[in-house]
Amino acid sequence: MTTATSEQDQVLIFDTTLRDGEQSPGATMSHSEKLEIAQLLDEMGVNIIEAGFPIASDGDFQAVREIARLAQRATICGLARANFTDIDRCWEAIREAKSPRIHTFIGTSPLHREITKLDQDEMVQRIHDTVTHARNLCDNVQWSPMDATRTERDYLCRVVETAIKAGATTINIPDTVGYTYPRESAEIIAMLRERVPGADAIVFATHCHNDLGMATANALAAVEAGARQIECTINGLGERAGNTALEEVVMALKVRNDILPYATSIDSTRIMNISRMVAAVSGFPVQFNKAVVGKNAFAHESGIHQDGVLKNAETFEIMRPEDIGLTATNLVMGKHSGRAALRAKLSQLGYELADNQLKDVFVRFKALADRKKEVYDDDLVALMQDTAASAADDHLQLRKLRVICGTEGPQEAELTMIVGGTEASVDATGDGPVDATFNAVRMLFPHDANLELYQVHAVTEGTDAQATVSVRLEQDGRIFTGQSSDTDTVVASARAYINALNRLVLAQARGNASAMIHAG
Ligand code: KIV
Ligand code: ZN
Repeated sequence: MTTATSEQDQVLIFDTTLRDGEQSPGATMSHSEKLEIAQLLDEMGVNIIEAGFPIASDGDFQAVREIARLAQRATICGLARANFTDIDRCWEAIREAKSPRIHTFIGTSPLHREITKLDQDEMVQRIHDTVTHARNLCDNVQWSPMDATRTERDYLCRVVETAIKAGATTINIPDTVGYTYPRESAEIIAMLRERVPGADAIVFATHCHNDLGMATANALAAVEAGARQIECTINGLGERAGNTALEEVVMALKVRNDILPYATSIDSTRIMNISRMVAAVSGFPVQFNKAVVGKNAFAHESGIHQDGVLKNAETFEIMRPEDIGLTATNLVMGKHSGRAALRAKLSQLGYELADNQLKDVFVRFKALADRKKEVYDDDLVALMQDTAASAADDHLQLRKLRVICGTEGPQEAELTMIVGGTEASVDATGDGPVDATFNAVRMLFPHDANLELYQVHAVTEGTDAQATVSVRLEQDGRIFTGQSSDTDTVVASARAYINALNRLVLAQARGNASAMIHAG
């Protein structure tokens, strides 16, 4: 946390991992995962959590409503397009929050005006009507001209003035397609502050996408020009190349406070935990050389670097690992570790468990420690994710898997699963052990979903390392992801596939077929 010396120096952090992040194809999260992430965001000091897009589906609505009820500190925001139905639904979802906010938007660039078939005057009228309607429901209204950076400057001033006059309290300037450049990002904010009447009474926000790799730079440039809210996501999760990464702007403001004298209320020591959690539940692993949270961000391989860091960490490190919550001793547990030690370690990693939960996790931990000499932080996080991903009442459950491999194909899989409460077994062959296993799953549970992604990565080093497998399925345009970790890659693959199928079954059971609405 960096301390603000005056109101003016405070930059609000608006996290949209659960909305813009979750909207990225394949990053769909379950209800309980969304609640868990919202709680971590609230605890780490995020000022505003954009919890979802309530009109998009019943699932989105329920998640936003529950997050609104549970949040202790953060303002809870829901997204709505520029129509009364969206805005009413959004208000319904957030109204029980201690501090609710409606975020409504419309595309204002020529391309978007063509799509909505509104001319400039008609759009101004629509903005006036919808912002007024939102403001009649809620004191805290954010308005966004989508594709602002490609909107004619004079028209941008006009629409922003309209939204302010209608009662918007925050004006967000989205670079929807990641097109802008730092100098331009700053110029737009400066221009709006100078030209738009009433601009000094509202907060300007910056919302950047990373298509040209400039999302963080563009957001910080906007702050230098007077924006006081940064919209961002954990790990930069988001459509296409993603959004501004929360961890990057927070750490930039902290490390370069000499030239960026602005404070945030974020407890940066929570960054690593939430980064791991978002990577696990979204199925989007963090690239090794990702700024701040990548596996290699603090790894010093070359002799010169290692020598320098050992003598004085500042030689090659501009921030300390502990600043983002990376504990100095990553090597944690083994098979002799007891329950109390496991509870303490998990609490350090952000997991507070009730006694009965700890009992279950301890059994799984012992099983892992039996197979793996050294259990690292990342192993424990993977184990916790695995525990959360499956439930006793899942439609599909893995009971037994045996795979026969060798230089001579085809490989064979003998699989036993519970399907809707009934145990069933099958033998299948395939082109490799994973293919044979997936064929066996398909024989026991025939379905039309297409396998869009199958990805494996090692959680830690060594031949006994756990493998985390991510599976992405597509059916009727909807995406279902599953993930699992195990020291046996084929077992992890089977579980990941089954987890994704369970999500599909759940969505079908809920009749949750309303089309996802993509909003940029
Ligand atoms: O990128 C964008 O324009 C958005 C808006 C809905 C704010 O996400
Ligand atoms: Zn966006």
